[in-house]
Amino acid sequence: MKKKNKHGWYCKICGRFRANEKFSGKGHAQHICKDCQRQIHEEKLTKKQVLKKEKATTYEQLIPQVESLIKDVDNHVGALANVSALLHSSFLHYFWCGFYIVKGERLELGPFQGDVACYTIKKGHGVCGKAWEERQTIVVPNVLQFPGHIACSSKSRSEIVVPVFKGEEVIAIIDVDSKGYSAFDDIDKAGLENIAEIISPLFE
Ligand code: SME
Repeated sequence: MKKKNKHGWYCKICGRFRANEKFSGKGHAQHICKDCQRQIHEEKLTKKQVLKKEKATTYEQLIPQVESLIKDVDNHVGALANVSALLHSSFLHYFWCGFYIVKGERLELGPFQGDVACYTIKKGHGVCGKAWEERQTIVVPNVLQFPGHIACSSKSRSEIVVPVFKGEEVIAIIDVDSKGYSAFDDIDKAGLENIAEIISPLFE
């Protein structure tokens, strides 16, 4: 961008000539004035809020679909495979999505969508084994910083693990991985916990 004189610049976005003090930080380096910089920031925030709202709506819309997928189906493996396919295809931030089923003191791999995964996980091991042991959902913003994380795929960067209960007992877990850091939040937690409740009879 052409410099008008030594006291200011033309803003790359609005084209107005602005005095040097009307630029700051990154905006100054890119010749974007403070007003435009603020506008960009607000647009980004709005976009994030819209995406969050869309995610919550998608989880809501999934409920009746999951219910109809499992209704009167005796083939539980097939039904779980279909639920994992439905979830995986509904969200862009899902990279791996599937189930591990409690067998004695281990979790065993169930139906899933995504890259190949490990067959068994011991209680207390990895994010899955920890969520089982602690009987609660675990959201991991950065798997590289989770002690004992089991890297089935080196592409995974964040993860959420939700236990499935039968009464008080954990009978399976839902595991979802993302290629992005901090991909999962309270909306995913609430959505997946709802789904865990609905699909619980499939593990009996
Ligand atoms: N990362 C999990 C292992 C399962 S894979 O992600 C499919 C864990 O740490 O338990």
